[in-house]
Amino acid sequence: MNSILSCLVLLSLLLLHLNLFAVASTSEPVNSDADRCNNPSKSKTFRDEWPRLQTAVDRVIGQIEGFDNSSFTSDEYMSYYTIVYELCTDRQGEKNSKMLYDQYKRVFDEYINSTVLPSLRVEEDEALLIGLLRRWSNHKIMTYWLSRFFHYLNRYYIPRWGLPSLEESSTSSFHDLVYGEMNKQIMDAVLYMIDREHAGEHIDRALLNNVFAIYTDLGGVSRKYHAKGFEEMLKGSTAFYFDEASSWMASNFYEDPKPKEEKSEALPIKPTKKVYLKSSDGDIFEVNYDVALMLESIQAIVEFEANSATNSTIPLKVSSRILIKVILYCYKHVQSSDSKHKTSGVDLKEWDAKFVEVDNTTLFDLILASNYLNIKSLLDLASQKVGDMMKGKTPEEIRKTFNIKDEFDPKEEEEEFLKEKQ
Ligand SMILES: *[C@@H]1O[C@H](CO)[C@@H](O)[C@H](O)[C@H]1NC(C)=O
Ligand SMILES: *[C@@H]1O[C@H](CO)[C@@H](O)[C@H](O)[C@H]1NC(C)=O
Ligand SMILES: *[C@@H]1O[C@H](CO)[C@@H](O)[C@H](O)[C@H]1NC(C)=O
Ligand SMILES: *[C@@H]1O[C@H](CO)[C@@H](O)[C@H](O)[C@H]1NC(C)=O
Repeated sequence: MNSILSCLVLLSLLLLHLNLFAVASTSEPVNSDADRCNNPSKSKTFRDEWPRLQTAVDRVIGQIEGFDNSSFTSDEYMSYYTIVYELCTDRQGEKNSKMLYDQYKRVFDEYINSTVLPSLRVEEDEALLIGLLRRWSNHKIMTYWLSRFFHYLNRYYIPRWGLPSLEESSTSSFHDLVYGEMNKQIMDAVLYMIDREHAGEHIDRALLNNVFAIYTDLGGVSRKYHAKGFEEMLKGSTAFYFDEASSWMASNFYEDPKPKEEKSEALPIKPTKKVYLKSSDGDIFEVNYDVALMLESIQAIVEFEANSATNSTIPLKVSSRILIKVILYCYKHVQSSDSKHKTSGVDLKEWDAKFVEVDNTTLFDLILASNYLNIKSLLDLASQKVGDMMKGKTPEEIRKTFNIKDEFDPKEEEEEFLKEKQ
């Protein structure tokens, strides 16, 4: 449905005062720089690009399975993010997004079927629970990295179709496949431990608490996406277990209300650390850690790098000319929120208004860059500016204003556009 949508449609939608979120959620024309609106390069297809993403998947699995000790470099991280970004913003973006989204879930399903379940099936009792906990913790690490590589899907494709987020999708794979098959064995193991405690034995209570914490995590997602809630499932088929376990939980849970989390994101951060950003022209910019964090699409790698001894630069598909401006914007906004340099809301608004007083090309590049880097406030600011400029203009005038070549049949576009609006 998007093959004929062009940058023009992006702009006409802006005209109707939709913010860019709404725009991009009905069209996919955001290319990596404004020029490509006029000179679209060869379409990128899921089939051509997937092998490179498969290596990312293999690496994550290698890491959690323990046969790959190397961690992701900034180059790798950005190249995976950018592959997904480019596939989703391609002319075939809609089709690519769907394939990426489905493949993301298939990756988890396959890994669980081929590796997780076989390893859990051979365990019982306490060993099963320990195995389950380890698998859940690994599952979260896998979700952490893959959902960041596939992050662009969370921005437009998923909200538009009301689909489960990437995090929810992988959680529900674990729920459906692991608990779908092993719930009884798991509950047996839990019950066996509770029985042993009743008999006066010393048991590993933290282990039980952590196992219950998985139920809590999974419960939230399943309530949202399954007709039959997770707790219902427990109550229905295994009422007895549920009563036993919940009374144990009621009497013990508060001992250790925060089960140990083995999250990779919980690492301590070093806010004084510098981050190096490399533009597409090859220039390197040194920025403060908190400034780099405003670029949401690179947050994970910035945090990760901050904890590593290495000092690598993060390559961005943004020209130096635009990156300088983006960095300036982020500095201003970080600074104005810190108490020492507090800028009043009014002053900041004025500063923002001046900031987007730029030529049309720069403005358009700022929109594309803030979309790619995921800086929501800048994206809103720049799109609003374009929207204001186009108030009352005809498509012909807009085309002139933004120097857009008329490469599609305008009538067809209009029809498509009207269809989209319904
Ligand atoms: C990973 O590191 C461990 C110890 O740090 C080492 O024993 C092992 O051989 C390494 N494995 C690979 C595949 O490099
Ligand atoms: C995983 O296993 C389930 C249950 O056996 C099956 O329905 C599903 O198709 C499998 N998925 C994949 C991707 O292997
Ligand atoms: C880190 O890298 C940047 C640019 O590559 C360089 O200018 C800087 O000196 C390096 N810092 C350290 C501590 O190695
Ligand atoms: C840029 O935008 C301004 C303001 O709307 C407009 O007057 C001008 O014609 C546009 N085009 C170019 C190429 O500057």
